[in-house]
Amino acid sequence: MLDEKVAALINTQINKELYSAYLYLEFANRFADAGLNGFANWYTIQAQEERDHAMLFLKYLQNNDGKVTLGAIDAPVTDAQSHLDILKAGLKHEEYVTSLINAIYDAAHSVKDYRSMQFLDWFVKEQGEEEMNANDLIKKWELFGSDARGLYMLNQELAARVYTAPSLVLD
Ligand code: FEO
Repeated sequence: MLDEKVAALINTQINKELYSAYLYLEFANRFADAGLNGFANWYTIQAQEERDHAMLFLKYLQNNDGKVTLGAIDAPVTDAQSHLDILKAGLKHEEYVTSLINAIYDAAHSVKDYRSMQFLDWFVKEQGEEEMNANDLIKKWELFGSDARGLYMLNQELAARVYTAPSLVLD
């Protein structure tokens, strides 16, 4: 039986991950509108990954006799104006998600819930990758974004991203 607080935080995280998917679809739309389909592809795949994360939290709760309560997903909110602002908003959002994962980990740790800690280990590592990827996009834009040929190549690179299912599988 999961601790009440741990279960509540995991349930909330389902919503947070689905919101992340929504936010990245918004980013994808913004880039698609600008004709940068490679960036749009990158964020569309990112949104797919966020839906996977939501499903992993949902499944974990179900597998551990927790109650799943789905709430409304907020409309995506961003004050990002430029393309670089969007990329920076992506990094800021991932840092926020990392803080959420850490808070669940703290709650699990405080009640010696080793099973949840082990489950969350995958997300701790994943957040490291998510932040690194978001940072990488910012650096690349700063290097190549102001040069038309550089931006074209970068867009092509991001167009090649393909979806891969998460390495964590819960039966
Ligand atoms: Fe689900 Fe981008 O973290």
